[in-house]
Amino acid sequence: MSQTRLNQTRLILVLAFGIAALYAGALWFGLSRTRLSTGWSLPVEPPGTMPWHAPSIESVPADEHGELVRQGRRIFMATPEFASDHARALISCSNCHMQGGIRPYASPMVGLTTIFPTWNKRAGRVISLAERIQECMVRSENGTPLDPQGREMHALLAYIDWLSTPQPTHRKFVGRGLVPLPVLTPDPQHGQQLYVAQCAGCHGATGAGYTPQFPPLWGPDAYNDGAGMNKIAKMAAFVYHNMPQNRPGTLSPQEAWDVAAFVHNQPHPAFNPAYKHY
Ligand code: HEC
Ligand code: HEC
Repeated sequence: MSQTRLNQTRLILVLAFGIAALYAGALWFGLSRTRLSTGWSLPVEPPGTMPWHAPSIESVPADEHGELVRQGRRIFMATPEFASDHARALISCSNCHMQGGIRPYASPMVGLTTIFPTWNKRAGRVISLAERIQECMVRSENGTPLDPQGREMHALLAYIDWLSTPQPTHRKFVGRGLVPLPVLTPDPQHGQQLYVAQCAGCHGATGAGYTPQFPPLWGPDAYNDGAGMNKIAKMAAFVYHNMPQNRPGTLSPQEAWDVAAFVHNQPHPAFNPAYKHY
């Protein structure tokens, strides 16, 4: 074989290998995206976790305790309406803790009654579930704390406890919290383009949303700058798994970081430092 012939054969081999690798990569990517875009069902649980089924609200008895659970659910699903003395943001718990707090990868409430009290990094101490709820009240809801002994707090705790009932004690529910993505350097300008194309239709050009269907992402009715959602990494993790709401699982991790950085740079109400112990 002449030298040129040999080089040609090598080139063809390299090209063929390259194409095969690209194809395999695309296939893997495609498959993994399909898995993610099944967004609305529970993902397959890894070993060590137990299958878990959401109870039905219809199964709650019509007694006094049942009424507390139902009130908790109402507050969770429509916070600005049912906890109007305390929530200032036009965002409900379930807008972030989606599907009434059972959606994995959207910081579900399932099993939390067996996990709390637990160490809290922000507070630097062990906190109760009630205190964790207060954190979201004063940050994510941009509001004021609930009366710790009041009916609303008891109702929210009863609701979360009820959601947690079928969860075996001390077993982890998959997708707890906002499961972090790999750390990437975000490009907020690209994020702005993404926002206009993929988010503004529901959350509005000014970020104010169309409440109560589509919650705000910034502006006076949004969560405040002390909220978890105001951290780029947390929002990226939320958006990657859950948004756009009609097509979850279609953004890449980089795109999720980019759009989160853009939203982060928009104005948010200021966190009231009087509540910084929460
Ligand atoms: C088809 C409409 C739709 C689109 C498009 C959409 N969202 Fe959402 N978004 C929603 C709805 C509805 C909720 C509340 C979820 C719920 O209640 O189940 C939500 C909730 C959110 C939340 C948490 C609540 C809040 O107010 O902070 C964030 C953050 C968010 N979306 C970001 C985005 C980003 C970023 C995009 C673009 C990549 C996007 N969304 C695209 C409908 C949409
Ligand atoms: C704007 C979005 C948003 C709203 C609204 C919101 N939260 Fe949260 N919540 C978060 C984020 C972000 C976290 C932290 C998740 C993480 O760190 O992985 C969180 C965490 C929590 C936790 C602890 C979860 C865990 O696994 O430890 C509880 C409990 C909670 N929220 C309750 C509530 C309740 C009750 C409401 C309504 C009164 C509410 N949240 C409203 C975003 C929100």
